[in-house]
Amino acid sequence: MTSLIKLEIQKKTFKKKGFSILNDFELKVEPGERLSIIGESGVGKTSLLNIIGLLDTQYQGSYKLFDSSVKELSRTKLAEWRNQKIGFVLQESALIHSLTIEDNIKLPLMYANIEKDPTVQDHFKRIINKIGIESILNKKPLECSGGQRSRAVFARAVIMNPQIILSDEPTASLDLANKEKMINLLFDMNKEFNTTLITVTHDLDLANRHQRVITLERNE
Ligand SMILES: Nc1ncnc2c1ncn2[C@@H]1O[C@H](COP(=O)(O)OP(=O)(O)OP(=O)(O)O)[C@@H](O)[C@H]1O
Ligand SMILES: [Mg+2]
Repeated sequence: MTSLIKLEIQKKTFKKKGFSILNDFELKVEPGERLSIIGESGVGKTSLLNIIGLLDTQYQGSYKLFDSSVKELSRTKLAEWRNQKIGFVLQESALIHSLTIEDNIKLPLMYANIEKDPTVQDHFKRIINKIGIESILNKKPLECSGGQRSRAVFARAVIMNPQIILSDEPTASLDLANKEKMINLLFDMNKEFNTTLITVTHDLDLANRHQRVITLERNE
């Protein structure tokens, strides 16, 4: 079986001279795997998710995703895969302030022109119900609490039923009950749809509930 993700990074450099992260870093992920990534602040976890999630293609190395070489994909294809195949729960995913929470969550469906599809409507209702945000659907993001906003970001990330869900500290601003709801929904999707989960976290309890835990180390 070929891997879902086959990433070989020699290094990722920034403009600042002499500084690089993810030196000689390799990662293979199979479909349906539950993987967590831990490591001290600044080691490159978010940078790695940006690479896996096709937001960053500026690094030395090779990356095969769904059997395609990412460096050969057109910008249109990259954007399409980001919308349809990959769900992001990122630290700074902004919601659009002028739209209601419901429209924010449904935005990826609108981009893909499938918001009227009945199975999609069912999936929407199920997600909203499971993470308990029915009451804020008509509110604007700035009328919600931080925890409510992060649950909306989460709903938007999973609404397309993506094959891969990348989460960057998904539970950081949540209380225990909401943290459990989010994790249960993630793990349910993994079971039901074989969704691959890659979760960056400082929460060792959450990390250890994944099948595999990777520790990123500084190796300059
Ligand atoms: N655009 C950028 N320009 C220059 N340096 C950057 C840039 N983005 C990230 N870095 C640097 O790369 C390193 C890795 O950053 P990254 O955000 O990936 O860390 P992290 O492991 O996610 O940390 P945290 O746990 O604090 O979120 C840091 O030293 C950071 O300062
Ligand atoms: Mg980070």
